[in-house]
Amino acid sequence: MEACAAPGIMVALNNEHRQLASLLDALSQQSDQLLPGREPDHGLMQDIVRYMADFPDEYHHPREELLFERLVRRDPGSVEIIRVLEAGHAEIYRRSRELLDELERIVSRGTQADGRRLKYLCDRYIGFYREHINTEEGRLFPRATEKLRQNDWAAINAGSVGVDDPLFGARVRREYRRLSQYLAIRTEKIAEDIAVAELFGVEALVESLVVAGSAMGEIQGIVGHRLRFTIRECRAIASEGSVVFEPWRLRHLPLSLAGSLRANAQAGAREVAEVLARSRDAVVEPVAIRLRYLRGLMG
Ligand SMILES: [Fe+2]
Ligand SMILES: [Fe+2]
Repeated sequence: MEACAAPGIMVALNNEHRQLASLLDALSQQSDQLLPGREPDHGLMQDIVRYMADFPDEYHHPREELLFERLVRRDPGSVEIIRVLEAGHAEIYRRSRELLDELERIVSRGTQADGRRLKYLCDRYIGFYREHINTEEGRLFPRATEKLRQNDWAAINAGSVGVDDPLFGARVRREYRRLSQYLAIRTEKIAEDIAVAELFGVEALVESLVVAGSAMGEIQGIVGHRLRFTIRECRAIASEGSVVFEPWRLRHLPLSLAGSLRANAQAGAREVAEVLARSRDAVVEPVAIRLRYLRGLMG
């Protein structure tokens, strides 16, 4: 039987990884606030770690372990990486409870926070979890997608227990409302940062370069055209008046030739100025539109 395309469960596991990654990012931001002279939000950290200590262990990791079981049968060569990931689940469970205990002592029991120890626990936990997710997405999931067959996916689906996600599900549980709002605002801010970067950074720069590049080509074309036209015209005038045409010795040229050169140079300069004016508008206008848009966003 042929391996089939990755089913919905793989999409769901990847989505859950995105959600876990957003929580790890938020925790990392709070961990930075543990540096001297800054103010961490211990309550928010506790909410993040409480969710991380409960929900993935209850729902995310058991589904992955069903997948591991099927994969090791189809692909015995994957046993080593599967052992690492299974041990990783046990380690995540242990480390998240250790971190949660520390936060509960600070938030619920009012114990004085040891910022250095808390930061060490946070950063170690974040690093370990990120690496675990990267290993699954980079090494295990592609292997599972390639090796597992229709009946394997059906067995994994049949063995999966449905659980309501208390934070990212349809109904946010009361204890996670503050965290849910915080994540929503954070996502908005990130989206705004990206918009600002686009507004002022890459897009404007690329556009300027494209405009400058095409303007330069056009200017070179004008100069070349005017030069060829001038030389042809001067040769014609010179042959009528039996003079030797030497455009680099302007002071010694007859008036008719000098006049032709001057007229062509002026016409060329006018055309180049038009191109430059048009190019400036093409560069300035898009940036001006972005500025107006940004001012509108900021109210
Ligand atoms: Fe995992
Ligand atoms: Fe995972």
